[in-house]
Amino acid sequence: MTEQTYYTLKDGNKIPVIGFGTWQAENGDIAKQAVKSALESGYRHIDTAMIYGNETSVGEAIKESGIPRDELFVTTKLWNHDHSYDKAKQAINESLERLGLDYLDLYLIHWPNPIDYRDNWKEANAGSWKAMEEAVDEGKIKSIGVSNFLIHHLKALEETAVIQPVINQIYLNPSDQQHEIVDYCRNNGIILEAYSPLGTGDIFKLKELERIADTHNKTVAQVVLRWSLQKGFLPLPKSVTPSRIKENIELFDFELSEFDMGLIDALQGKAGSARNPDEVTF
Ligand SMILES: NC(=O)c1ccc[n+]([C@@H]2O[C@H](COP(=O)([O-])OP(=O)(O)OC[C@H]3O[C@@H](n4cnc5c(N)ncnc54)[C@H](OP(=O)(O)O)[C@@H]3O)[C@@H](O)[C@H]2O)c1
Repeated sequence: MTEQTYYTLKDGNKIPVIGFGTWQAENGDIAKQAVKSALESGYRHIDTAMIYGNETSVGEAIKESGIPRDELFVTTKLWNHDHSYDKAKQAINESLERLGLDYLDLYLIHWPNPIDYRDNWKEANAGSWKAMEEAVDEGKIKSIGVSNFLIHHLKALEETAVIQPVINQIYLNPSDQQHEIVDYCRNNGIILEAYSPLGTGDIFKLKELERIADTHNKTVAQVVLRWSLQKGFLPLPKSVTPSRIKENIELFDFELSEFDMGLIDALQGKAGSARNPDEVTF
């Protein structure tokens, strides 16, 4: 495995096994430089979202990198106030425009049950999904998926979907391994993208990881990201610091033993957990 290795999605498209996260990378110079630095370090997969407010800078960095479009994988997401058919159609066009792209590699429903749609989230998701399927037919999106979906959200979506979701992007790191939804996705051929693979920084509180990192002459971040890859997840580390951006993709010259993996698995619950998507207040 290298940073150029791909997973094959169940729609046949390919996705690089590691992506670059951009949440809290502020629009403007910070996000643009971070994405440029990521592309220079070898990332070819960038994860943004309408709500991150940085699609414009992400798009500029992509354009200025000069990397051919077909060598890149770009994801963005439908925000919570844009659910349902008409709004989703418009949101897709607006994201494309801000990014300056002709097509998206992946478009995700960001949350399954936003506060504004709590009484009719199933219908809202079904409507959004129809708009996303049409965008696939029109060539505006290659692959479609979801984020923060639990089993009941996926089952509801599957009732009306013509194209089944190929990705579920969830909070996933040693402190919250989300076994139920992970097993469901694996059994249904849905690739799991691991967001907050470093617990938005909280994973560094865990001293146990330092010992494992030392034995491999690697950093804690590298050990945790390697754990994610060896689990078959697709980690999306975020950083705006060039040295860390580079460090976070140098994962392909070492391997964690089964014993190391077991030690890391035992960190469940020790540094934060996923939010309940049915109770979020946004
Ligand atoms: N779908 C969703 O609902 C959702 C939710 C959250 C996140 N995501 C996606 O997942 C991505 C990653 O998650 P995240 O942003 O929560 O955070 P994360 O990648 O788990 O952690 C990022 C934090 O760790 C620091 N960091 C990164 N690499 C480091 C290293 N090698 N050593 C020490 N510190 C390091 C970063 O600092 P600096 O930046 O200051 O270097 C930042 O504070 C997001 O950017 C986004 O693309 C999706």
